[in-house]
Amino acid sequence: MRSASEIILVRVSSEVSRDIRKRFYERIAHAPLVDLERIGSAKLIGSINIDVPRIVSGGTVLPALLISSITLLGMLSFLMYLNVEVFKLVIMAIFIGAICYQIPMMIGGRIFHRSREAHDELQHSIRGLIYGIKELKLDVKKRAAYFDKNLHAQELKILKHDKLANTVVRTTMSFGDLICFFVIGAVSFVFINYHAISKQELVGVIMALLYVTGPVAIMLATVPTVTIASISYKKLNQLLQSIPSERCNSELVDLPPWETLKFSNIEYQYPSYNDEPGFKVGPLNFEICKRQVSFIIGGNGSGKSTMSKLLTMHYTATAGKLLFGKTLVTSENIVSCRSLVGAIYSDYHLFDEFLIDLSDELRLKAEKYLEMLQLSHKVKIQDGRFTTIDLSDGQKKRLALLVSLLEDKEFYLFDEWAADQDPEFKDIFYKEILLNMKKSGKAVVVISHDSAYFDVADQI
Ligand SMILES: Nc1ncnc2c1ncn2[C@@H]1O[C@H](COP(=O)(O)OP(=O)(O)OP(=O)(O)O)[C@@H](O)[C@H]1O
Ligand SMILES: [Mg+2]
Repeated sequence: MRSASEIILVRVSSEVSRDIRKRFYERIAHAPLVDLERIGSAKLIGSINIDVPRIVSGGTVLPALLISSITLLGMLSFLMYLNVEVFKLVIMAIFIGAICYQIPMMIGGRIFHRSREAHDELQHSIRGLIYGIKELKLDVKKRAAYFDKNLHAQELKILKHDKLANTVVRTTMSFGDLICFFVIGAVSFVFINYHAISKQELVGVIMALLYVTGPVAIMLATVPTVTIASISYKKLNQLLQSIPSERCNSELVDLPPWETLKFSNIEYQYPSYNDEPGFKVGPLNFEICKRQVSFIIGGNGSGKSTMSKLLTMHYTATAGKLLFGKTLVTSENIVSCRSLVGAIYSDYHLFDEFLIDLSDELRLKAEKYLEMLQLSHKVKIQDGRFTTIDLSDGQKKRLALLVSLLEDKEFYLFDEWAADQDPEFKDIFYKEILLNMKKSGKAVVVISHDSAYFDVADQI
């Protein structure tokens, strides 16, 4: 029976972990981009990998806690039946014990909380270590400084907090155990000397009290796990609450055909940070037309990529209107409007698998594109995925282009796509690929610093 209940418990906890993580994925998928950018990936991944397992392990001790509480209740009722005076004394001891217990437990909880906060910083630094390993490996001093100021410092902080918190919590637990035996001693002493209690009754009372120590010890042993789990639970909830939902209709609706995408007095301002007002773009007034290539040009930090996220409707304009033809983009149709868009952002992500069904026709088309992008000798398509994506930066970007061309959208946006292409392929991109897209009726927006190709643009 014990094994069966343990197996059931493990299985249930695995399912609970999966459910919490699934909830998390949904929240991320439905969150506005600006909030995800504000929170940062380190915190999100940290919470999934740290808080979820901690919450679940807190959950797994709950049955033991419940059984012990019921046993304790039963034993206290039995004690009341045996002797009301002893029962009152024990209740008083539990009451005083619980109050005394709370104070160090609160302190322990606070220290555990600090340790958890330090984990977020550590996650951030681990990301720096992994993504910046090339830079760190080049310079021993730089690497040592990064380790000292970040990784080692944060590890030390976590270690210090964990050690201190565990010391406080475990000492308090021992104090709890001590109270149990103190009560037994006090009962024996007080009742033997000052109260008329029969020997038989005293034996019964002491036996009951000794029996109480078992469940109390179990309850006390679960305290650190439950404390840590409750901190993670609070942390996870805080994070989930700080991820708002986009509040838009997630169903696809039919959109009337459109010819122009119109920006009418569009403004966007990033949320303020440390009392500094966020960067602002706009008011913007322009039209992007089908069968035209529009260039967006400007210096570094002038707001081109911000505009790209406004154009592809990831950022919601703080003022103004966005119209697809005559259709105003609203929360009702924004998901459908986004599905008209194919984009390669400057920080694009290349999936190694096709997330669309590859019909035979699409497969042939993909192979044709592989030839055109001069990648057929490097990459093949097998079982709905690329055989490799371990390619040069320029080649990876070409694969991203292949995927977005296959998706056959109506509106395309390329944020500095050609920046890392060789001169020969830059030429092909600006003079052939963009022209073909234009001919096939697409509206194309290109963010570019390649002044040599500005003449390709129908509008800048
Ligand atoms: N996620 C963000 N949160 C807050 N502010 C941001 C964010 N991203 C960009 N900014 C602000 O917006 C400004 C414009 O950034 P943006 O990325 O749009 O420039 P850009 O024109 O694309 O530059 P580049 O040519 O270097 O790519 C930045 O200077 C920065 O202050
Ligand atoms: Mg940019």
